[in-house]
Amino acid sequence: MIYIKKMVFISLFAVELVFANEFLVTDQDFPKTNAKMENLGKFLFFDKILSGNKNISCATCHHPFAATGDGISLAIGTGGIGLGVMRNPNNIKARVARNSPHIFNLGALEFTTLFHDGRVTKLISPAGDDLPLGLDNPLAVQAMFPVTSDAEMAGEKGENPIADAVANGNLISAWQQLAERLQKIDEYVNLFIAAFADVNAAQDITYVHAANAISSFEAAAFRCTNSPFDQYLRGNHDVASQQQIRGAKLFYGKARCSSCHSGAFQTDHKFHAIGIPQIGPGKGDNLPGYNDGHDDFGRERVTNNENDRFKFRTPSLRQVAMTGPWGHDGAYNDLEQMVRHHLNPVEVLNNYDISQAVLASRADLDKIDLIVHQDKKRRQAIIDAIEIKPIKLTDKEVSDLVAFLHALTDVNCIDLRKTAVNQVPSGLAIRD
Ligand code: HEC
Ligand code: HEC
Repeated sequence: MIYIKKMVFISLFAVELVFANEFLVTDQDFPKTNAKMENLGKFLFFDKILSGNKNISCATCHHPFAATGDGISLAIGTGGIGLGVMRNPNNIKARVARNSPHIFNLGALEFTTLFHDGRVTKLISPAGDDLPLGLDNPLAVQAMFPVTSDAEMAGEKGENPIADAVANGNLISAWQQLAERLQKIDEYVNLFIAAFADVNAAQDITYVHAANAISSFEAAAFRCTNSPFDQYLRGNHDVASQQQIRGAKLFYGKARCSSCHSGAFQTDHKFHAIGIPQIGPGKGDNLPGYNDGHDDFGRERVTNNENDRFKFRTPSLRQVAMTGPWGHDGAYNDLEQMVRHHLNPVEVLNNYDISQAVLASRADLDKIDLIVHQDKKRRQAIIDAIEIKPIKLTDKEVSDLVAFLHALTDVNCIDLRKTAVNQVPSGLAIRD
C-alpha cells in the first residue's frame, strides 16, 4: 500500500490516469558522475586528434552551440570545413546518410539502444566479437564507432593509416593507433592517470578508456531534466501555460503521441515506420529492381527482418524544440511540419518539398538527394510500411501540441557555453 501512497495523481498535465512516478526523473536514472573522467572526456570530445586526418571532432557534429547536433539535415564529415549551417562541403567525398542526432539525456540508464536504427545496444554492437571489453555503458560503446567510420572521422583509404586499417576491416588496429596518438601527449597521459585507476603510465591508455571518458562527459554535460514539464511533475504548477497543458492532454490523449513517445523521456525505445521522406545518399540498401544503394531500410539493416523495413527508433522528445532539423535524415526543419507529418503521413509525405531540409549545397551531391523520394515505386514502398493512421486535429490543437513540445525544454541547456573548451591537449585547432 506504500506504493499507492507514493503515486501522485496529475490532474492537469496528463489526461487520464497517468501517474507522476512514471515520468519523474531523478539522479537514480543516471550513472554516477565522475569529475575527472568528465574533464578528460570534454577534451577528447573536442579534439580532432581522434580523427584519421586530424580534421574533425565529435563536437563538429554534436556541438553544444548547435544543441548537441549540427543544425543541418545530413551531417558533413571528414573534409568539411566550418561548423553547422556554415559548414562547407566542397572537399568531402560523400554526405553522411543520416542526421546527427542530439545527445541530450542519452546517459540516462534507460537508453540502452543507440543510433537511428538501434545498431548499438547494451550487449550487441556492429563490431561483434571485435568489440573490446571494459566499456562502461551504451554511450561508451557508441563512442568506439564514429572514429571508425570513413565518412565521419576516419577518412578514406590512402589518406592515413587509421583509414587504411578501417578499410581493411581491422578496427582493433584503428583503435590501437588512436590510443598511441594519445599516449604521446603528456597532458593527456596525466589526465588519463588522474581519471583511471588502471592507468599508471602512457602505455596503459587504450581507446576504451577514451570512450568511457567521452561517455562520462556526455552523460553529465548534456543531462537536461529540469524543463517546465519536470517542474510541473514535481508540483510547481505555475511553470506551464494553459496552452502547454492543453497540448499535454492531446499528446497523452486524442493525438495518441504517447503510444510511441512514452515514459519519462517520451520514447518507447522501439522502432516504427512513420514514412519520413527519404532524402540524401541512402545507406546502400536496394529495393528489388534497383541497384544504386540510395535506400535506407532503417531497422531492417540490423535485424535482417523485412518487417522492420523503414522503421526508425522513436526519438526522445526532451529538448526537441531546439534539435531541428528533425527525422532520421533531417527532412523537416519546421517542428510544426514534423508534427503534422505524424497526423497525416501519406499526404504530407506526398507533398514534401526539399526546401524543408537544410542542406549545404553542392551540385553533384544535390542530384542524389531526391532520387528515392521522386521515384513512385520507392515512395510507395515507404508509404505501405507506415504504421500510423491519420488523426484530425484543428490548427489550434496542432499549435497546442507544439506548445507542449516546448515545455520539454530545460532552459539551463540552451546556453551550453560551459560545456565547451577553447583549447585541447593535442594543440590542434578546435576551430576550422
Ligand atoms: C560527421 C559527423 C559526426 C561525427 C564527427 C560524430 N558523429 Fe555522432 N552521430 C552522427 C550521426 C549521423 C549519427 C546517427 C548515425 C545513425 O543513426 O546511423 C550519430 C550518432 C551518435 C550518437 C547516438 C545518438 C542517438 O540518439 O542514438 C552518439 C551518442 C554520438 N553520435 C556521439 C558521438 C561521439 C562521442 C563522437 C566522437 C567520437 C561522434 N558522435 C562523432 C554524426 C557524427
Ligand atoms: C507509431 C509511433 C509514433 C507515434 C504515434 C508518434 N511518433 Fe513521433 N516519431 C516516431 C518515430 C519512429 C520518429 C522518428 C522517425 C524517423 O526519424 O524516421 C518520430 C519523430 C518525432 C519527432 C522528431 C524528433 C526528432 O528528434 O527528430 C517529433 C517532434 C515527434 N515525433 C512528435 C510526435 C508527436 C507530437 C506525436 C503525436 C501527434 C507523435 N510524434 C506520434 C514515432 C511515433
